[in-house]
Amino acid sequence: LALIEGRREVREGLTRFLMPYKFAIDEVMTKVNILQEEFTQTGEYNPIEHVSSRLKDPDSIIDKMQRRGVPLETDQVRSTITDIAGVRVVCSFMSDVYRVFELLTAHSDVTVYQVKDYIENPKPNGYRSLHLLLEVPVYLSSGPVQTIVEVQIRTIAMDFWASLEHKIYYKYESEVPGHLLR
Ligand code: GTP
Ligand code: MG
Repeated sequence: LALIEGRREVREGLTRFLMPYKFAIDEVMTKVNILQEEFTQTGEYNPIEHVSSRLKDPDSIIDKMQRRGVPLETDQVRSTITDIAGVRVVCSFMSDVYRVFELLTAHSDVTVYQVKDYIENPKPNGYRSLHLLLEVPVYLSSGPVQTIVEVQIRTIAMDFWASLEHKIYYKYESEVPGHLLR
């Protein structure tokens, strides 16, 4: 019981901790939505197929910290888990991925913290996507908080592949048969 109670307390603390991340998602989503709407209104070619977002839930954060063997302290969580706020932009073509990358990172309030180009350098299993860690300022009543958002930009084809690969992995509980891996 003490463990469950402890976990509940940790979870409540995490919910407050997550607030700026939720707002950072809202900010990045607004940027992407404005681009999309601008392209639509001007009748210009729209490189964005769709966009989605997710906030990592407290239980996943606790599990990931335990897996990594790092203590559950806010500073440690902040530096260890960089995908608390996640935004995924799906584009039509590969050139569109880099176009959206240029457009988003040109904003003066966006700091590029890290770029991992799994399109240029696919993972051994074939996974492809452009991964960015962007830092955006979130203005709370207590002042601005620089907050990291993981942005994945990929084409529809790469997204289709990643969704199925993820499903297959879960379906077979990580024991994927050789012929499927191939
Ligand atoms: P985590 O994997 O999140 O612990 O962080 P990392 O530092 O290894 O980052 P990485 O760039 O490898 O992956 C981050 C995210 O990209 C994952 O959470 C997935 O959403 C996605 N991703 C990475 N590799 C794969 C893959 O092989 N298949 C699928 N379907 N998604 C992947
Ligand atoms: Mg990974």
